Amino acid sequence: MSERDAFDGATFRRAADRALDELVRYWETLEARPVLSRVSPGALRAALPSAPPEEPEPVERILDDVFQQVVPGLTHWNHPGFLAYFVSSSSGPGVLGELLAAAFNANAMLWRTSPAATELELVVLDWLRQMMGLPEQFGVIQDTASLSTLVALTAARGAVPGLDVRGQGLAGSPPLRLYASQEAHSSVEKAALVLGLGQSGLVKVPVDATFRMRPDALASAIGADRRAGRVPFAVVATAGTTSTASIDPVPEIAAIAQRERLWLHVDAAYGGAAAIEPSLRFVLAGASAADSLVVNPHKWMFTPLDLSVLYTRRPEDVRAALSLVPDYLQTPADKDAPNLMDYGIALGRRFRALKLWMVLRAFGRRGLAERIREHVRLAQLFRSWVEADARFEVVAPSPLSAVCFRLRDGDDTRNQRLIDDVNASGEVFLSHTRLHDRLVLRLAVGGLRTEERHVRRAWELLATHAG
Ligand SMILES: Cc1ncc(COP(=O)(O)O)c(C=O)c1O
Repeated sequence: MSERDAFDGATFRRAADRALDELVRYWETLEARPVLSRVSPGALRAALPSAPPEEPEPVERILDDVFQQVVPGLTHWNHPGFLAYFVSSSSGPGVLGELLAAAFNANAMLWRTSPAATELELVVLDWLRQMMGLPEQFGVIQDTASLSTLVALTAARGAVPGLDVRGQGLAGSPPLRLYASQEAHSSVEKAALVLGLGQSGLVKVPVDATFRMRPDALASAIGADRRAGRVPFAVVATAGTTSTASIDPVPEIAAIAQRERLWLHVDAAYGGAAAIEPSLRFVLAGASAADSLVVNPHKWMFTPLDLSVLYTRRPEDVRAALSLVPDYLQTPADKDAPNLMDYGIALGRRFRALKLWMVLRAFGRRGLAERIREHVRLAQLFRSWVEADARFEVVAPSPLSAVCFRLRDGDDTRNQRLIDDVNASGEVFLSHTRLHDRLVLRLAVGGLRTEERHVRRAWELLATHAG
């Protein structure tokens, strides 16, 4: 290491050894910690100096503060009892990849600014595509599904025939319409905001009794919009919705999209990982017809935040919408190799491919599939316990690893109290959602360290506190 660095080589090695020791101990003792942090608002801010250090501080003291001050204020996403939202858990290979990427600090904006970073990204995303059983297409890493969806819909908006959005913006154009189900993730609505469609530009298509988009309602919404002079341009189907993990009928939606010449984007941010397990490949039925698809390895593939993948059969439309290359970014290799900055919004791009490459190699397809299959088994087992208890009702199908349920005779306040009581144990963390305007408890399995006994413990706590 250079003497200009804050650490010399020996200091770095000593500090890194200690940090790794502490981390391994952290992972090994996770279960003894409360999943949800118990600190009060403002606690860490009050404990830390309000002004920055003027002089260099010794690394030992900095690490002491990390483990003594910061860690107690963490909610432990890697905790085996973390059963809330969609779990994002990290793994040894993922952490190692993150460490190495930070050390190399390669910027994968142009092929030239780190050829290996660009080429590894192309290789690893092609591997993942094969693992998920998707047809050959282009893949590019974004930070989050929110960004992947925004990029896809930017391309879709740019490809609307007869409009020159790139040149003229939306001024003077007829209102554009985007469609997604009422159960679609809020990132779709955010994309509508960012793209200048406004909230009215997103049509929330009704769902059926199993929380799946109704193709007949989609078709009639498109028809009504056309008759009113609006311009339908894209539809987002979700394979694994945030509340219930419902899977929209993508084959039927794809047929409508094709007939109506709409861009079809599939949000498989959570559900896509399930396709790695052959018995769960139904999750991506029809997705090969999509113009674009997002899947998040940082959700159910044990890859640390952040890493989202956007696949598209129309990379030229993404480039046409977003590529902007000032003179100083032009290189002699431009005609021979892709510059991945052309397929996103940010210029600088972290070397995220490295951690995914390490995860895919260290687990192998089989290793990932086994874990995902087990998570689905655990969720189904939990569901069977809820179903067998007359005090509870299961309120949605559970095609993957999330279960929605509630106290049959309890109002929202009573159900909320049950979640709060169970979460106060510190042993597990469950979240909630709203279905048919009622508060619903939700348990989702997806953490690398979650075993049957953790899910069983969640059920014991629920059953006890249900009274
Ligand atoms: C179906 C779905 N899409 C998109 C997202 C947003 O993901 P991100 O946080 O990567 O933007 C989520 C988050 O849980 C999700 O469940």
